[in-house]
Amino acid sequence: MKKKAVALVLAASMISAVLAGCAAAAPATTAEPAAEAPAEEEAVEEAEAEAPAEAAEATGKTVGIAMPTQSLERWNRDGSYLKEQFESRGYGTELVFSDNKIEQQVKDLENMIADEVDLLVIAAIDGESLSQVLADAKDAGIPVIAYDRLIMNTDAVSYYVSFDNYTVGTLQGQFVVDQLDLDNVDGPFNIEFTAGDPADNNAGFFFNGAYDVLSPYIEEGKLNVVSGQTQFDQVATAQWNTENAMKRFQNILASYYSDGTVLDVALCSNDSTALGVAQAIETDYAGDNAVLVTGQDGDEANLANIVDGKQTMTVYKAVANEAVATLDLGDALLNGETPDEGLIAASNWSFDCAYDTSSYDNGTGIIPSYLLVPTVVTVDNMVEELVTPGYYTQDDAGYLHPTN
Ligand code: BGC
Repeated sequence: MKKKAVALVLAASMISAVLAGCAAAAPATTAEPAAEAPAEEEAVEEAEAEAPAEAAEATGKTVGIAMPTQSLERWNRDGSYLKEQFESRGYGTELVFSDNKIEQQVKDLENMIADEVDLLVIAAIDGESLSQVLADAKDAGIPVIAYDRLIMNTDAVSYYVSFDNYTVGTLQGQFVVDQLDLDNVDGPFNIEFTAGDPADNNAGFFFNGAYDVLSPYIEEGKLNVVSGQTQFDQVATAQWNTENAMKRFQNILASYYSDGTVLDVALCSNDSTALGVAQAIETDYAGDNAVLVTGQDGDEANLANIVDGKQTMTVYKAVANEAVATLDLGDALLNGETPDEGLIAASNWSFDCAYDTSSYDNGTGIIPSYLLVPTVVTVDNMVEELVTPGYYTQDDAGYLHPTN
């Protein structure tokens, strides 16, 4: 390990003592809410020590954590939680955000490999673009955990930790079925789809999950996709970008709904796209009915939209728990173990997680996966699901704010 990494470990172990003190009141297997994320320009964290009460035992090992960007809200939370978790067990960390730029992420990973980190935890920007740099990681003997998004076409990935991505989509689809009571009424209702980034392996799973639930009703004529855009490639959103989603939806509204045609449902794969779609509906939709809008993540602006009736639901993924699962998996790997289903029982997590050895083939074979369970959040259960567990606080006006 190089000098810089040693310094990080020492500083991190001091911080971890502080964090360990903070975490004492919480159940051991449930993560504390994240600390505020760093500014993007401070991409590589130089952990600064605060006076430690008592130092957690340093492992002498460093974990490189690569997140896509700080511009999409959830990755800030993921980065903070992962850093906090690994440091709480005596690991040093290097946390980078790569501004959603593929070459930047490759460069950041090259730097972490040069720094001789002991483990890489990576949420890929483009799942197809890391084969070369991860071959270098493999040569250097650094294990790789694909975090949240599967990394494709490389045999350097040891494990995948995520939520059950297909289930996220089925929850969105089933929500539409239930809200419209599609098993009992004929409709027809009009629906449009907005999916995620084609470079993100998750995006197809989300879309397919939702579409598989809804397609029988489309075939039956109870749901009508007025634009006719039902293929993933037609409804995808580059980089999950809010403005891209908004512009496409403004076009849809102008082309197919300006004559008074009623839009009933905007099925959006996640919150960053739902934000753009809700904006387009607010400014460009001629109708005055409440459009059912789905999402995913529980981003702050979207939870506000749910309170205000501009979005109907989000699928919440407790990324604090995703970080806990990643820590226990990473810890086992760094201790020379070959984790399998037994890790789940051994870790005594307070959340559900499935060990999956069939769903995620990255082109070189199946990647063993730990899949956590997502939850539907609406205006009716947001306090119970988000505020009570401590992920968010609620202000007097009813809006939710992430706990930092
Ligand atoms: C994540 C989603 C997120 C999206 C955009 C996906 O890979 O699983 O939670 O909304 O990326 O950041």
